[in-house]
Amino acid sequence: MKTFEKLNTGMINTPIHKLDNISRDLECNIYIKRDDLTGYAFGGNKLRKLDYLLADALNKNCDTLLTYGGPQTNHGRLTAAVAARFGLKCIIIMDGDKPAKPTANLILDKMMNADLYFLNDTQYRGQEDFEQIYHNLKEEKTNEVLKEYEALGHVVYVIPVGGSSTLGALGYFDASAEINQQVKSMGINLDYLVVAFGSAGTYAGLLLGKKQLGLDYGVIGISVSHKSDEMIQKDIRYMNDISQEFDLGIRISSDDVWIENGFVQNGYNIPDKETRQCIYYVARQEAIILDPCYTGKAFNGMMNLIQTGAILKGSNILFLHTGGTPGIFSENHLSEFQAELWD
Ligand SMILES: Cc1ncc(COP(=O)(O)O)c(C=O)c1O
Repeated sequence: MKTFEKLNTGMINTPIHKLDNISRDLECNIYIKRDDLTGYAFGGNKLRKLDYLLADALNKNCDTLLTYGGPQTNHGRLTAAVAARFGLKCIIIMDGDKPAKPTANLILDKMMNADLYFLNDTQYRGQEDFEQIYHNLKEEKTNEVLKEYEALGHVVYVIPVGGSSTLGALGYFDASAEINQQVKSMGINLDYLVVAFGSAGTYAGLLLGKKQLGLDYGVIGISVSHKSDEMIQKDIRYMNDISQEFDLGIRISSDDVWIENGFVQNGYNIPDKETRQCIYYVARQEAIILDPCYTGKAFNGMMNLIQTGAILKGSNILFLHTGGTPGIFSENHLSEFQAELWD
């Protein structure tokens, strides 16, 4: 196995603790790993990926990090956080149009001095060839921005959406070993690990990590956007690319992955009542705050799998809280929370 240099961009060895009230309700032992507490700029899963990406960027003498995402990108926020702490510039190229009023992560990005650009692709949404148009706009904007910064003497390191490059996924490969040590010391024999599934990097690292440790718990990814079979096959190829690139000696097949597609609700980052009901339930039972785009959907999915018997009663389950909580304060979600909670 090849090893790579990494830096500590967050506070890891995040706590694992039991959700006593929900465990009692659902007749399972449900634990939570608090990667929402990775320390900087409201925390979240992306810092573990950035541990590797930042080390690589610095080794390549880069002084600027460029990444992508939706306007509410958590990965963008944490890339801005890492850039601020390590004295780099940060550029985020966002989907959509520049909103008239910034909320949540946009404010945090600006607070940490990130430079924001927008693709202005909203006018093309719904067109048959949207994917191609989007791809072209992204490429054009990237080239334009790179030219601008390079002309000023900056050396730019480009990070893909979600930090989900092969290198970025090593962050959660390492997290598997951390989890294993923690649960062992707590005397827990895990049956399942449940996590939100987006650009696949977090899931990929966790699955490869547990296979490398020779453990047999199921790793369940709850998809936050509609994923076709073809897209899942592409994600599996990505997992095998990671294994190959770092000589892990692991082969992932469709039988190894458990991706649930049934809890996306209205689509990626679109508010929905069922996810909000789950968020209220977890807040009221455990004082744990989930977000409406990722962890709320993942927790709702996990509860459904228990209630329908897909996860057996009495199981030992670890839910990974991947952060994202500023999402509550983004315009589209906040108005729904206000309408339901404030009369
Ligand atoms: C809060 C949160 N949870 C989960 C995920 C999903 O992680 P991944 O993209 O590695 O699948 C993301 C990705 O943006 C996220 O921001």
